[in-house]
Amino acid sequence: MRLLKWYKQHGRDLPWRKTSDPYKILVSEVMLQQTQVDRVIPKYHEFLERFPTLTHLAEAPVEEVRKTWYPLGYNIRPHRLHSIARETIARYGGALPREPEALLSFKGIGRYTAGAIRAFAFNEDAPILDTNVMRVLHRVFVGEGDPKTQKNKLWALSEALIPKGKGYDFNQALMDFGAMVCTARNPYCLLCPMKDFCRTYPSDPNGG
Ligand code: ADE
Repeated sequence: MRLLKWYKQHGRDLPWRKTSDPYKILVSEVMLQQTQVDRVIPKYHEFLERFPTLTHLAEAPVEEVRKTWYPLGYNIRPHRLHSIARETIARYGGALPREPEALLSFKGIGRYTAGAIRAFAFNEDAPILDTNVMRVLHRVFVGEGDPKTQKNKLWALSEALIPKGKGYDFNQALMDFGAMVCTARNPYCLLCPMKDFCRTYPSDPNGG
């Protein structure tokens, strides 16, 4: 698959790609929900130094968690992360569940984050769809209409496109591709490995 080849050559070296610990992946994905990669990286390290395991996080006073999180903003997120940790201890014996229904039952874990945890922590071929992935899939495979009104179709695409057994790399690749090539403004279409079948190439309606 062309995107996987692109990812092998150009994928970013990000700290949460060096671990398979579901707790660390949870922390990274909750941080990345509303904060950019560059700002998340130092916080990710700091947070995990302070709360190295889910048990450490669950046992810490929530006020300390909030302080460590500051100044990432959107301060409901540290509270939610803390309650996910506590609930995981209480209901799942301290091991983050992998079933989508169980993940979605936590406040703070929506469809995107559940998919990311399943793919990145449990190596499942689970689909993801955030703003960046939505933009990439819409441009390459749909090409018309407003992506926001086509979420069901884009979720289905995101699932159907995963090469069997490659959910981890494919999803990370989609995110890097959206951040580095198929950017919101002025995408680098000439560098695109999918330009010969992209529904939007060469002109980009949102592109500058
Ligand atoms: N944004 C959300 N999850 C991400 C990840 N795993 N890598 C890069 N950007 C992301």
